[in-house]
Amino acid sequence: GPERKALVERAKTLLSEQDAVLVAHYYTSGDLQDLAEETGGHVADSLEMARFGHGHPASTLVVAGVRFMGETAKILNPEKRVLMPTLEAECSLDLGCPADQFTEFCDAHPDHTVVVYANTSAAVKARADWVVTSSIAVDVVRHLVERGEKVLFGPDKHLGHYIERVTGAELLLWPGSCVVHDRFKAQELQALMAEQPGAKVLVHPESPQPVIELADVVGSTTQLIQAVQDLDADTFIVATDRGIFHKMQEVAPGKTFLEAPSAGAGATCRSCAHCPWMAMNGISNLVTTLEQGANEIFVDPETGRQAWKPLKRMLDFNE
Ligand code: 13P
Ligand code: SF4
Repeated sequence: GPERKALVERAKTLLSEQDAVLVAHYYTSGDLQDLAEETGGHVADSLEMARFGHGHPASTLVVAGVRFMGETAKILNPEKRVLMPTLEAECSLDLGCPADQFTEFCDAHPDHTVVVYANTSAAVKARADWVVTSSIAVDVVRHLVERGEKVLFGPDKHLGHYIERVTGAELLLWPGSCVVHDRFKAQELQALMAEQPGAKVLVHPESPQPVIELADVVGSTTQLIQAVQDLDADTFIVATDRGIFHKMQEVAPGKTFLEAPSAGAGATCRSCAHCPWMAMNGISNLVTTLEQGANEIFVDPETGRQAWKPLKRMLDFNE
């Protein structure tokens, strides 16, 4: 309606007045994703979000996503102001991996190279040798294993098992999971596949192993969006946050996208895969944040310097 339009216009003005660029994740609202693209910002997976912010000349980065994404932007760009529409947006992987306990786990296995998922706090990254996102986790771990290194990986156990299966390496795993992807159900997915025999199945690797085993393509959000353009199919069953459908519909108009079944409150649910923390981002709190210069992300400088090294290694990684 007209109110929403006015808010979007206000956000555009503020971004430009404040030399700010908006970087949004595919799980945030369609409004935010569109705004990012219309204003010279970017909508992307976790790795590309980090890359884009790192290369961009704007003095303020506004990160629409969850806290680890804002922290990563700050660690890579300590001289920039990094704002988020909300500072309350957590991630169950980050929450389930406290730095003190993770450090103890690493200290108990000093002969292992520590590889952490980007979905972690700055303090956990500071303890790591490598940071990876879902788009390059397999490639990085394969590279390390080929060099003869033993790898400790955390916090996502499903992604960890997936890496083990693809690389054939055995990893020491931390037992974390994502509240959204952990709920996808293999049996119900198989039933839906039987109803949709022509459909291709796209799965994010934070999903449980039985679900991953049913996939035609396993990958990061960007890789799954690429797959709907590359694969010769009209219908896709997608096991990841439903925020991704906004971009999928845009890049492959006319194709049909179905959400993979997940366990909702009681019954099986076909539209409940949505991260509650991603959903806290909106145009309205973005405007408030820019107006007030609020919700700025700070990372302890020493922790940030330590965490910068494994993050930079990730950005520089080329197979
Ligand atoms: P990617 O966008 O990197 O695939 O990560 C998904 C995610 O966990 C963000 O919450
Ligand atoms: Fe974390 Fe899962 Fe939400 Fe991504 S979707 S931010 S992994 S809880």
